[in-house]
Amino acid sequence: MASPIHVLGFAGSLRKQSHNVAVLRAAGDLMPAGMSLELYDLASLPFYNQDEDGERMPDSVREFKQKIADADALLIATPEYNHSIPGVLKNALDWASRPSGTAPTNGKPAAILGASPGGFGAVRAQLHLRQILASMNVFVLPRPEVAIPFVGQKLDEEGHVTDEQTREFLRAHMIAFASWVRRLRGE
Ligand code: FNR
Repeated sequence: MASPIHVLGFAGSLRKQSHNVAVLRAAGDLMPAGMSLELYDLASLPFYNQDEDGERMPDSVREFKQKIADADALLIATPEYNHSIPGVLKNALDWASRPSGTAPTNGKPAAILGASPGGFGAVRAQLHLRQILASMNVFVLPRPEVAIPFVGQKLDEEGHVTDEQTREFLRAHMIAFASWVRRLRGE
């Protein structure tokens, strides 16, 4: 029996009807046996302020960093804002990245995905996200890449992913993610 994998997932969108949160939820439902997803809402994190970091960090930041420390891996869904990641996601990663070298993100396995209503599937945002995560020493699954274009056509009104091909991509991504986490653990 393979060892369990507890994944912390968050999306760079605070929107109630966020496509990326919907896709994140679907990825959680399609995870292989032994892998589970806990969703985290980034809404409670204040703007990063180095004066407030360290011993006196805000409680919401402390909680977020503890959840990252407790997780075996991270699953990050990013929308694309102006060809990059939304500020809300960058802000969360900036909090999580400190102190450099001993941050809870240091050496953490991760997978990323992105969805957009247009034709690009947040690919440019995902490239930036990889670059940012590399600077934090987060080990991101290289492949498969999951870019979901025209996402509005792939969800029902309640935000369930109904498009079968997208569900298959997500399922395959989560299987590869589980293998990646176990490989990094040396299993
Ligand atoms: C966008 N959107 C967008 N889409 C895209 O494919 N490339 C882009 O560069 C941008 N830029 C952008 C900037 C800003 C400020 C906003 C608000 C939106 C559209 C974006 O993909 C769309 O709003 C998604 O629905 C956002 O993801 P969620 O909230 O549905 O997860």
